[in-house]
Amino acid sequence: MEPSEHGPVGPSPTLWPAGFAVGIAVLLVGLIVDPMVISSIGAVIAIVFGALWVRDATSELRGRPAPVEPETRELRAAAAAAAAAEAPPSAPRFARSKFLEFSTLGLGGVIGGLVTVPIAGFAILPPFLGQKRHETDLGPLTAFPEGKWFIATFMTDPKEGEVSRRTAFVRNNGVANNVPSFTIISNRCAHLGCPVQANGPTGAILGEPNVVEHTANGQILLRPVVPAGFGCPCHGGQYDTEGNRTAGPPVRALDRYSFDIKNGHVILLSTFSVSHVDGIGAQAKIFKYKQAGPGEHVDGPEQWLYPLQPPHH
Ligand code: FES
Repeated sequence: MEPSEHGPVGPSPTLWPAGFAVGIAVLLVGLIVDPMVISSIGAVIAIVFGALWVRDATSELRGRPAPVEPETRELRAAAAAAAAAEAPPSAPRFARSKFLEFSTLGLGGVIGGLVTVPIAGFAILPPFLGQKRHETDLGPLTAFPEGKWFIATFMTDPKEGEVSRRTAFVRNNGVANNVPSFTIISNRCAHLGCPVQANGPTGAILGEPNVVEHTANGQILLRPVVPAGFGCPCHGGQYDTEGNRTAGPPVRALDRYSFDIKNGHVILLSTFSVSHVDGIGAQAKIFKYKQAGPGEHVDGPEQWLYPLQPPHH
């Protein structure tokens, strides 16, 4: 290789657009597979190569020659010599065509950014921002006698009103390892999200009155129930009392609520998804996953078919 006139010969400038394109491709794939990690890697690649591309593309305007292949350099030198011989003494500093070329590119970039950045922001930002954490006070521990099931209806955010109303099946499992144990199952069907019902007699039939608690989350209705399982009215999905799917189209067990005990009250936290549960009550081994949407597998090879996780409350 011949020595360079302008220092060591760098990689061909055509590498930068290719790297930029690879970065964009990784970014787009990451949006589907893993918005946090892979998209970030793609964005970094695109930014680095994009910056190098812009730097080289504008180097002539900034008075520094872009690194070029030796053959190209010789051709350019010959062309420059010929041009210099023909050029009038008062040649402009920048060719008009160059000015128009960069103006067009710059304007196109600005317009493209104005169009795509807000859309990309709406698409990419939510997973990074996370969701507002709701805590729901279901009432005092004494409202939940050990071993009894209740259908609890409540608003997760009274400020949002009825739109935040949810239902959960709640059972006090007693104390395990010195901490209260509860099974708290969401009534959202793991097939398409219909409201699952308890299969069994409720308060009026049992002759047990409903319980109403007034907490920071407003009025909490607790209906006693003796479920033989849970059933979905939409397409016949069936679950056992631990929320395991037993029949029908649901693809996994019912979601559950995590909980905490604060000042003697049962506090519902966020929901999580469950592939299945081994065992019962306080002894149950729960196979937990981060919250998935209705119909999404959380384990097995099928989980890769449902990579997008919509925001959840
Ligand atoms: S939504 Fe529950 S079975 Fe289809």
